[in-house]
Amino acid sequence: RRAPPATLVIFGASGDLTARKLVPALKQLSHHRRLAKEFAVVGVARSPMSDDEFRAKLSNGPDNGLLERFRYLAGGYDDPDTYARLKTLLDEIDQQHGTGGSRVFYLSTPAQAFEPVVRGLTAAGLNRGATPDGFSRVVIEKPYGHDLASAKALDDTVHAGFDESQVFRIDHYLGKDTVQNVLALRFANAIFQPIWDRTWVDHVQITVAETLGVGTRGSFYEHAGATRDILQNHVLQVLALALMEPPASFSPENVRNEKVKLLQSIRLPTTRDIDRIAVRGQYSRGGTADELMPGYREEVGVNPRSKTETYAALRLDVDNWRWAGVPFYVRTGKRLPRRLTEVVLQFQRPPHLPIRADQVSELKPDALILRIQPDEGITLRFGAKVPGHSFQVRSASMEFSYQETFKEESPEAYERLLLDAMIGDPTLFIRSDEVEHSWRIVDPIVAHWQESEGRIPFYEAASWGPTEGDQLLERDGRAWHNG
Ligand code: BG6
Repeated sequence: RRAPPATLVIFGASGDLTARKLVPALKQLSHHRRLAKEFAVVGVARSPMSDDEFRAKLSNGPDNGLLERFRYLAGGYDDPDTYARLKTLLDEIDQQHGTGGSRVFYLSTPAQAFEPVVRGLTAAGLNRGATPDGFSRVVIEKPYGHDLASAKALDDTVHAGFDESQVFRIDHYLGKDTVQNVLALRFANAIFQPIWDRTWVDHVQITVAETLGVGTRGSFYEHAGATRDILQNHVLQVLALALMEPPASFSPENVRNEKVKLLQSIRLPTTRDIDRIAVRGQYSRGGTADELMPGYREEVGVNPRSKTETYAALRLDVDNWRWAGVPFYVRTGKRLPRRLTEVVLQFQRPPHLPIRADQVSELKPDALILRIQPDEGITLRFGAKVPGHSFQVRSASMEFSYQETFKEESPEAYERLLLDAMIGDPTLFIRSDEVEHSWRIVDPIVAHWQESEGRIPFYEAASWGPTEGDQLLERDGRAWHNG
């Protein structure tokens, strides 16, 4: 797979994501010869900089001459002149590099700039390729909206210039090999499909745990919180892939149709239910004497009386034939004890045990654990006879490790997604209706928390979240799997 000739235009070129993820991904793609010879990059941002200064900022590590094809354009996102100058520059690049009038516009700015940029591109006619064969696409970073209403408003602006087939909404979790492996495991094997339903599965857990705090992103995070930052997008995307029906093919529309159908089947929380099914928390000072970690309210850019949640846990119910009655527990948090993203399917206990209860005292329920990161792999936990004269059964496990099994390198999520956007494959991007349904699920919860007078529960940094988070499962006779 190789990208066709095109120019990649990065809005927000002086930002963190460009230097940390996008340019390293481009360097890797170039190293693996996945980019066309006819390829160029234009960085756009507000601060004045020369082409050379822009290149120098990105020059750590080898780049095979890739940076020579980087140009920089300074301009305000609201200013029509920016887009007029961009158009002239793109035409010039088409002449110089043979990029064929095709453009991919990558919006990596703060979210407030998404609408002005899309409007500017549309008004300048950059929403179409510059030649009959040329294409124009727009890649939009998260957050896509702040709630359902703002996501729809953004969509209206986007669709005024771009057809949905030209729009690539990023969720970088979909670029991870282990997330795509959920599709391989479920649909390239016959053995898992029969047990993947309410008859065999007791419940499902999805955890996205981080050890980091909010770092320098305090002022952004104050308006996001864990629910909007990770649950609405990464967690619901992984959930949709893990629970959806088998698609007829892996075509973009087939896969995305199944994901939407699953999201539509998630029971929308009512205000009355929220206190029962949703838990939030905020980290307070904690850690060890060696590494004392500040509380969220002490972080830079955070209101010292903030009620923003840095931990969120939910019980979701899916009203469809396959999953009726099976609860899905999802959680995410910052400053938890381990970095861990996993999907756990916990299976039912056997309907009848032909042995005494004390013979299985060390037997945990069977489980299939998909480790998305780190230590990527899969564990199947089941009971085995303990060697010896008596008949005792204890939990054992079978392990699959990516690192030990495959010698192939796993590309960074952004490498895969940038290449897909340039090729024009939208399978791993979020369709408009998926965004809408995801907001429908989290909006009532966030709104309820914002309106409620109650205090936000605290948890010590480097602990597994507030006790209320554990109680959410304990009430149902279950417990979180902490890796
Ligand atoms: C981003 C969130 O989308 O995902 C961050 O905004 C979070 O808050 C990050 O840290 C986690 O990504 P990963 O790939 O490190 O799990």
